[in-house]
Amino acid sequence: MNSQNFNSNHVLQGGYFHKTIRRWQSTNILVDASNFIFPLFVHENDETFEEIPSLPNIYRIGLNKLRNYLEPIVNDGLTCVLLFGVIDSDSLKDESGSYADNQNSSVLRAIPKLREWFPDLLIACDVCLCAYTFHGHCGVFSESKSLSVDSCINRENSVERIAQVALAFAKAGAHVVAPSDMMDGRIDAIRNILNQNNMLNRVSVMSYSTKFASAFYGPFRDAAKSAPAFGDRRCYQLPAGSTGLAIRASERDVQEGADILMVKPCMSYLDIVKELKQTFPHHPLAVYQVSGEYAMIWHGAKANSFDLRMILIEIIHSLRRSGADIIISYYTPMILKWIKENK
Ligand code: PBG
Ligand code: ZN
Repeated sequence: MNSQNFNSNHVLQGGYFHKTIRRWQSTNILVDASNFIFPLFVHENDETFEEIPSLPNIYRIGLNKLRNYLEPIVNDGLTCVLLFGVIDSDSLKDESGSYADNQNSSVLRAIPKLREWFPDLLIACDVCLCAYTFHGHCGVFSESKSLSVDSCINRENSVERIAQVALAFAKAGAHVVAPSDMMDGRIDAIRNILNQNNMLNRVSVMSYSTKFASAFYGPFRDAAKSAPAFGDRRCYQLPAGSTGLAIRASERDVQEGADILMVKPCMSYLDIVKELKQTFPHHPLAVYQVSGEYAMIWHGAKANSFDLRMILIEIIHSLRRSGADIIISYYTPMILKWIKENK
């Protein structure tokens, strides 16, 4: 594995070392529990249990409340969670997001606990800096006082930080690291650092490979307290109107060795989902039904415009038809119950 001539891009085992990931590698148009990933907001304060106003029925949860919250969902068949850290205290945020891989951070403390409580649960971690930087951007800047985002993000430093954070999560026991920052070259940097630490064959890299700049992320930025303090993310997230660039972004990540690809958001981008699945039939494709999509469906159902269950089943069909192997959804607990009832 460390032989000098061995190209680390040939390590495929990180893509199938765990039974849930092996399911993702198996083509199957039916839906079952292992197709779903449930995102979790893990709060810095261990006692927190608060509903997120912009994401009804979804909570920021502290470590001491996590086990009781998850137990019934795991019993209903949950196979994978995607962890996001949330910090309230502005004093913990800095220029380079150093709290992201601080050993006291909620995510780093949650990973071993989750593995102990739920030995079969696959632990995926979102890797990004925006919840930990005072400027709320996903990378780090060249000049600390810079007020313009465009061309001021320092690619090398950003990618180095992102890779360090991914390594910290992997060392803590994460099975999947999922960089959502969209900096150029971060998949390569993450794979290199995992390789140097002999972890490439037991960690999957799920790239947010085709992530659009989207108004559908609104509720999330409130949930994770990660809204940019100035500017927007259009110089690192993809233009909503792009097709070629959207495909090239995933193609680049395939070349850099991503195990799993992703399109985000999903409902407005099913053409891209379909084309990506056709272009890369040999990679599991995840779609992220993001916070704004969740809220839109929730409020529509609350207003009696449609039935929540019927509309969600219809949407899930459209995602699977388009080629999604994995669906990241805040509706996962509800969907698992429906799957269980039908069995
Ligand atoms: C941060 C991140 C975002 C989401 C996942 N990771 C927001 C963003 O890019 O602003 C969106 C998730 C959602 O809206 O549910 N890098
Ligand atoms: Zn980010």
